[in-house]
Amino acid sequence: MSQSFNRGTVEDFGRWREFSAGMWAWIFHKFTGWVLVGYLFTHIAVLSTSLGGDELYTSTLQGLEALLVVRFLEVGLLAVAVFHILNGVRLLMVDLGVGLEAQDKSFYASMVLTGAITVASIPTFLGGPLA
Ligand code: HEM
Repeated sequence: MSQSFNRGTVEDFGRWREFSAGMWAWIFHKFTGWVLVGYLFTHIAVLSTSLGGDELYTSTLQGLEALLVVRFLEVGLLAVAVFHILNGVRLLMVDLGVGLEAQDKSFYASMVLTGAITVASIPTFLGGPLA
């Protein structure tokens, strides 16, 4: 026998207030996964300057690292990557049936650890290029 559920209106963005930890984990995992794919193209573009020789590659990196906005973006990229990895490992555990009763707690742990690692990285990234 089939059952039907009233899922409400998809377009009703006000529903985010009802989201549980698992829903936030799903949204953040999608967001971070696609940001990482986007970054991959940027990364390849920057690395490709090495085809123009050592000097072009070095000056490209020095030029980028000299920009404060780039260093802020690097902190954001680290946060995105760390969350995706930690939550990804958590999802793999869930798929294996490990720790099913602690899914919310492990999501919060991923968030806290991501925050701690990101904050710890700030002096390195914002400190600018090494002399
Ligand atoms: C150690 C590193 C990583 C781990 C453990 C990991 C783990 C995972 C897992 C388990 C999923 C499936 C989530 C689900 O069940 O719905 C996933 C989705 C995804 N990952 Fe990763 N991932 C990693 C690195 C990356 C990297 C480097 C990229 C991008 C270059 C990436 C991009 C994506 C994307 C686009 C998705 C699909 C998101 C969606 O649902 O639309 N991941 N990842």
